[in-house]
Amino acid sequence: MQILKVRQGDTSAPQRHRRLTHSRQLGWALNGPCSERSAALFALYKPMLDARQTHRDLPDAPPWVVAQLGQSLDGFVATETGDSYYVTGPHSLVHLHRLRALCDAVLVGAGTVAIDNPQLTTRRVPGQNAVRVVLDPDARLDGRSRLFNDRQSPTLWLCDARHAATARERLAALMPTDAAANHASTEVVAVEGLLEKEGLPCQYLPPRAVAALAERGLRLLFVEGGGVTVSRFFRSNALNRLHLVVAPVLIGQGRRGLQATAHDVMADCPRPPARMLILGDDLLWDLDLRA
Ligand SMILES: NC(=O)c1ccc[n+]([C@@H]2O[C@H](COP(=O)([O-])OP(=O)(O)OC[C@H]3O[C@@H](n4cnc5c(N)ncnc54)[C@H](OP(=O)(O)O)[C@@H]3O)[C@@H](O)[C@H]2O)c1
Repeated sequence: MQILKVRQGDTSAPQRHRRLTHSRQLGWALNGPCSERSAALFALYKPMLDARQTHRDLPDAPPWVVAQLGQSLDGFVATETGDSYYVTGPHSLVHLHRLRALCDAVLVGAGTVAIDNPQLTTRRVPGQNAVRVVLDPDARLDGRSRLFNDRQSPTLWLCDARHAATARERLAALMPTDAAANHASTEVVAVEGLLEKEGLPCQYLPPRAVAALAERGLRLLFVEGGGVTVSRFFRSNALNRLHLVVAPVLIGQGRRGLQATAHDVMADCPRPPARMLILGDDLLWDLDLRA
């Protein structure tokens, strides 16, 4: 994203970049006249810009985590067969790539890797590739997925410490003779206590994953899906923000989108502060989960 190229005190920045300024009190601000649309887009990304700055200024600042899900009107992120190309429209895809460009790391669940075989690189906007992180607590992936092998960006395969050796063995088995070079960009990260309970589906602890990434200097995190992973982070209170993009499409039956904790009475249901932004035909709900 062009605006990210602006730095405090950077007088060489082209004129169109100079309206962004930073102060300790206000964080990043967009100054001068601008369209309503520009102001709304800036407001959407400001929390991430501020978090980046805080991490630069304060080495001990806590991690900051945003998640995004693109779901149908009836609450699904993919069909039953796992097809999700595409739930949301092109404007929302640009937004997705902006989040990748803004964050230190982009994290997805093992199901998304197994089904989509994604690249997770920044392609629809200018910007750097984030470090790619695959959350696979019990090491069920086979290591053949594209992102483990394409060397487009460093990739971390996050497993519970009890299963990390399995993942390492799989990677090693796939290596050609000149292997170290080939797989240099993929690393298995063993996380102590990632799995809360052995043998139960999805019983892992997102805060342990966040802490393990922070130890590696990855503190601005983007959780890109799928529905199970984002819901797990949401229910563990591990998210600062959630961008829920709702597309005018009906899937009927499929992979579930956001699943919150159930409540018996409406008065107990969380209603986080929210703003809306139109993205083409889609509606983005920007939920502030730390307000
Ligand atoms: N629209 C969007 O925004 C969006 C974004 C990303 C992905 N997607 C779609 O979401 C779907 C995947 O999401 P999800 O919620 O099902 O999963 P996910 O959150 O990506 O990953 C976690 C789930 O994957 C399962 N899993 C673990 N290893 C697996 C393997 N080797 N093969 C298959 N599944 C495995 C886990 O099973 P256990 O419960 O047994 O541990 C867990 O249920 C895909 O169809 C993808 O296209 C949509």
